[in-house]
Amino acid sequence: MVKKLNIVAVVQARLTSKRFPKKVISKIGNYSLIEIIKKRLDRSKLLDKVVYAIPKNQENKNLEIFLKQKNIEYHSGSEKNVLKRYIQTAIKFDADIIVRITSDCPLVCPKMLDNMIHEFKKKKVDYLSNIKDPLNIKDEFYYPDGFDIEIFSKKSLLSSYKKISSSFDYEHVTTFIRSSNIFKKHFVKSQKKFQKLKLSVDTKKDLNNVKKIFKVFASNIFFSFEDILKNKKSLDIIKKQLIRKNMLSKKVKKSQSLWSKANKIIPGGNMLLSKNPDRYLPKLWPTYFKNADGCNVTDLDNNKYIDFSTMGVGTNVLGYGNTLVDNAVKNTIKKGNLSTLNCPEEVYLAEKLIEIHPWFDMVKFARTGGEANSIAIRIARVASARDNVAVCGYHGWHDWYLSTNLNKNKKNNLDQHLMKNLQISGVPKKLKNTVFSFHYGDFITLKNLVTKKKIGVIKMEVCRNTEPNIKFLKKVRQLATKNKIVLIFDECTTAFRETYGGLHKKINIYPDVAIFGKTLGNGYAISAIIGKKEVMVAAKETFISSTFWTERIGPTAALKTLQIMQNIKSWRKIRKIGKKIAKKWRRLFDKYNLIVEINGIPSLLSFTFKSNKHQAYKTLITQEMLKKNFLATNTIYPCIKHNDKLIDRYFVNLEKIIKIISQCENEGQDIKKFLDSDVSSKDFYRYN
Ligand SMILES: Cc1ncc(COP(=O)(O)O)c(C=O)c1O
Repeated sequence: MVKKLNIVAVVQARLTSKRFPKKVISKIGNYSLIEIIKKRLDRSKLLDKVVYAIPKNQENKNLEIFLKQKNIEYHSGSEKNVLKRYIQTAIKFDADIIVRITSDCPLVCPKMLDNMIHEFKKKKVDYLSNIKDPLNIKDEFYYPDGFDIEIFSKKSLLSSYKKISSSFDYEHVTTFIRSSNIFKKHFVKSQKKFQKLKLSVDTKKDLNNVKKIFKVFASNIFFSFEDILKNKKSLDIIKKQLIRKNMLSKKVKKSQSLWSKANKIIPGGNMLLSKNPDRYLPKLWPTYFKNADGCNVTDLDNNKYIDFSTMGVGTNVLGYGNTLVDNAVKNTIKKGNLSTLNCPEEVYLAEKLIEIHPWFDMVKFARTGGEANSIAIRIARVASARDNVAVCGYHGWHDWYLSTNLNKNKKNNLDQHLMKNLQISGVPKKLKNTVFSFHYGDFITLKNLVTKKKIGVIKMEVCRNTEPNIKFLKKVRQLATKNKIVLIFDECTTAFRETYGGLHKKINIYPDVAIFGKTLGNGYAISAIIGKKEVMVAAKETFISSTFWTERIGPTAALKTLQIMQNIKSWRKIRKIGKKIAKKWRRLFDKYNLIVEINGIPSLLSFTFKSNKHQAYKTLITQEMLKKNFLATNTIYPCIKHNDKLIDRYFVNLEKIIKIISQCENEGQDIKKFLDSDVSSKDFYRYN
């Protein structure tokens, strides 16, 4: 005879919840959460038993006494190794099939449970639940948080225990089973989009919300999930919560609708990956601006934000709409921006840049960083009479650069410089083996490339995510000189942030050519290629020419920007601001026991959570800071307008979010519960 399978619900509970201690014995009406869950589960027709699994320690002694008083069966075991506690409980109560319930779910529905047990048996799976399948990336619907039910066989629990080695998996019981491919699993989906709803009890506020639902059904504590949806009053309580969650989408409605339109008529939606809203907060990011002034930005829906992110992707060191720069530009517009003749400002600007960098002799101008990089490569190839380039870091979108990815050898392509598998369709295959990448600091690889690949040009940034590595840069300089290689420092982003000019000036290591962009015009388009005469004259042997490189606004804005920077010593100001922010970040992360790496130089700062949930945490910061009217991610490029008052405001708001992140990272809270949008898409890595 086939033995009837014993199905036991094991409810995990403890008194030591950090956010809401003793919540499991707090009351809804006449009963504690523990009793309500037990009573509701006892209504199941297919369960054989309902028992509790609690930690065995002094802090939970009163819980044992409480359960004994209420005649509720339990097992007490390890506090941290909850998986072991589950196994022991299953053995003690002779369970073949375990139903895992957590004691933050007083609304757990016996009717839903019976349907799921039925499915579990019918589908003959090892694991079945109504929570999100972590391996499914499709946007499917699951049940609201607070109705969580997981069903699995004791056999699969034992087998997962043998394979686990992380304390995280021990603590969270089923995380290994859920993310592993070795088990047969089924995830029950709901018909409606409920996953944004939070009806579990983690805080007093949550408890009050759930109490309201129980109050609707008065003395009947056995109402089902369907009853909640059928009853107008309880449905209203749920809807209110959904409305709160959807507030952001209302706030940025115009921007989002324009972004949808943009995607239909502009491939990719816009012209710069760094401004794609999916990189910040999918479907909820303001995306378009109406006004920008100082470090304030007004979006299309008239929301006003303080920009604590990249200040126009690193362009506006003097803040947005600097009056002096704008007035100089307006004056130029009055006088005429472009004519058949050249504008004299380009000569004045070349003079000024050479005055700031007297080791250089000649300058050419373009309008974007990528263009300037292409020009520099062309000139350097002519000057060195060699085609091959050794490259490190990001330098734009042009063919010469992307051709690095035609290399089969992953070590020498851009996989570990920007992002994996960067799309390069359309880049001529014939460019293969002309550009080879090396990592910042990896002198051996660079030296090997120089020896084996007839390198004529080395192109790199002085630094990005770290302080400049002086020893390495000196060796690179010597290597280039010895082998008659043109050394180019791409200072599109680093120049005029740490000193008055290229960062190389500060560290006394001089390239043959430097490239400036971004900050040079404080938001107006202008970039420069500046270098030694013996290299720069090669520009005359190759055709480099463009109509709009002769317009007047760019050099006018640059001349005024340089003047203001010199007068107010803007680089000193932004460095000081950056140092202050980095110090405050460090203090905050340490306070909340988070392992976070702070990267970059003071004027180009970012941080990375040392966690596989980094991207989700970053998304939460963007989301919650947006609600407080800050544009914020994990990157801050300070500008002179970031004053102490604003920094303090930024930190008051950030601390509340860091607290939640700490609960997720250190106390097993699910970050997804707090997110109103999908997790943002990954950044460029910029490993150099
Ligand atoms: C070092 C560096 N080079 C080149 C570029 C490309 O500049 P642009 O986007 O103006 O073409 C960037 C932009 O982020 C950069 O940081």
